This record gives sequence, C-alpha cells and structure tokens, in this order.
Amino acid sequence: MKILGIESSCDETAVAVVKNGREILSSLVYSQIDKHAIYGGVVPEIASRCHVETISGLCSKALEEARIILEDIDAVAVSYAPGLIGALLVGISFAKGLAYAADKPIVPVHHIKGHVAANYLAFPELEPPFICLSVSGGNSLILDVKDYTEITTLGASCDDAAGECFDKVARVMGLPYPGGRYIDELSQGGDENKYKLPQGHIEGNPLDMSFSGLKTASINLIHNAEQKGEEIDRSALAASFTKTVSESLLSRSLLALEQSGYKKLCLAGGVAANSRIRADFKNAAEERGFELFMPPLSLCGDNAAMIAAQGYFEFMAGNTAGLDLNGYASMEL
Ligand code: KG4
Repeated sequence: MKILGIESSCDETAVAVVKNGREILSSLVYSQIDKHAIYGGVVPEIASRCHVETISGLCSKALEEARIILEDIDAVAVSYAPGLIGALLVGISFAKGLAYAADKPIVPVHHIKGHVAANYLAFPELEPPFICLSVSGGNSLILDVKDYTEITTLGASCDDAAGECFDKVARVMGLPYPGGRYIDELSQGGDENKYKLPQGHIEGNPLDMSFSGLKTASINLIHNAEQKGEEIDRSALAASFTKTVSESLLSRSLLALEQSGYKKLCLAGGVAANSRIRADFKNAAEERGFELFMPPLSLCGDNAAMIAAQGYFEFMAGNTAGLDLNGYASMEL
C-alpha cells in the first residue's frame, strides 16, 4: 500500500511517498529557514505563502522520484494538528484537492504521532509498545506508545519546549536561527561543569518538565557578564546548557520506562538530533540494558515520510476524513 504524505505545519514544506508504513519511496523537504532567519523566528504569514508556492511542484517531484503516478497511491495522509493554522491549512487544502481529483481517501495525521512514526521508517522491525521522548521546537513530551494509533501523554513540559529553549538561548548568544544545531556545534569540547544551571523541577507529576527557568538563568548569565564587561566562555556555556537539558530529558525517560515496564525507548523530533543527548541516551541504554531507537538526523526534523508512515497505520485502523477536514493549531494526542 502506497501513501502520499504531506507536511506543512511550520516552516518545512514536505511531500513523501511511503510503502506499507515502513519503506520510503521518495521524501522531499523544502526548508524555509532562510526566509525566516532574519526575523529570528518563524513568521506565520511568510510560512503560509511559501507553502502555497512550493507544495504543488514538490508533490509532482515526490511522485516522479517514487516512479509512480497519482492514481497509484492508495491514500493521501496530511498533518492536520498541531501547528501554525495558516500553514496547516495549505497542506490540508492541497491534500483535499488531490484526494478529490484522484478519488482517494484522506487520512488526517497528528503531527506528533508522525514524529513517533519516523522510528518505524528507521527501524522496520520496531513494534509498539514503547516509550517515546518527542522533543521539538513546539513540544517536549514523554509518550506511552501502546499501539500504532493509540498514544497517550505521560509527561510534558509545563512551559517552554526544549527546542524553544535551545533557540532562545542561541539567539541571545548571537547564533543564527534555529539555534539548536549551532549550540550543539559550539558545545563540542566545552567544559560542561563550568556553569551551574538549574534543572526545572515540577510539583506533582514527576514526568513533567520545565525549561523556562533554565532559559532565563542562561540568558541572565550572558547579560550579567555583558554588563560587567566580562567575557563568557561560550563553548562551556553551550556544553553546560546542553548537559542540563539532556539530564532533564533522560531522567524522565528512564522513569517512564521503569513505570511502564517496557524495554524499548524511542527518540523523536528535531532536538533528538543533538549529539550530546544522543550520546547520553546511548550510554544509559548500554548501562541499563534497554533497547534504544534513535532515527537518523534526516528523520528527526519535520518531514512528510513520517506523516505517510503514520498515515498508513491510521488508514489500516480505519481513520479517514472527508472533504470537511479542518486544521487545528493545538490538539491533545
Ligand atoms: O521537529 P522539528 O524540526 O520542528 C518542530 O518544532 O516540529 O524541531 C525543530 C527544533 C528547533 O528548536 C531546533 O533548534 C532543534 O529542533 N534542533 C536541535 C538540533 N537540531 C535541531 N536542538 C538541539 N541540537 C540539535 N542538533
């Protein structure tokens, strides 16, 4: 079964064709980062316009690279929540047009479930249940993946997402947007113990997280140094900051594994590309003997292959939509 996937929830326009939820036949991602970088963040109106300009050509190319025509696909899967509403609606409207023209079903896919499904593409033998840590620019979630379509949230960030925290601290350090990967590069070889930064602690659910205190502490440290005319050790700050985020994510993930009794842990989302976080999780898996799944960097960030993969499982579960499908800026899993 071949599913055409469409992703337009933020600043990446992406179209892909995936076979049986596991095999990528084509996957194209057009990143708009250049268009937003000068503003230091994503401008929703620009994002929507870029999606409109790009999506049709990208779709033709994705079909061509998969060596199929529209009639050969079995369904059109589209990311419909959460995300920037104008951006989502471009992908949804395009998916409706395609589905109507080719008389194919539409499969709505929750964007976060798509991130989880990136693991099915990277690891064809992987099956639920497992715990998934999904960390991106908009969300930081500990998920109980009970089955392909049944996913519940065990813990979440109460304030900033981890990726947002990376990007805001990077901006104050004068690094380009989005700053996660620049902090990653800068942290290499830095003294991770030089700056003591606070880990967020939340009352109540021990699987919840907080990153706004860490963000504020890091930014204050930079501003205080500037005011005193002192030089900051940028590499050490990047390393200390990343270590603090990583510890926070790892401790929650390990607790979720312990509580669930599962033996498998998956990572997902753009922040899962971080080299320090990947190394810490790998060491923990070796020490504690659980199975760790980390998708390659190309599948961590937003892409449409993950939407098509999850679309396959949703379709098999009978989850299709009509031409009245709407987009939603926020939606619980
Ligand atoms: O999943 P994603 O591509 O988009 C969504 O937010 O849905 O994630 C983007 C986030 C950004 O905050 C970006 O700075 C962060 O992932 N990111 C990283 C790295 N690469 C991307 N954060 C830390 N280290 C990285 N290597």
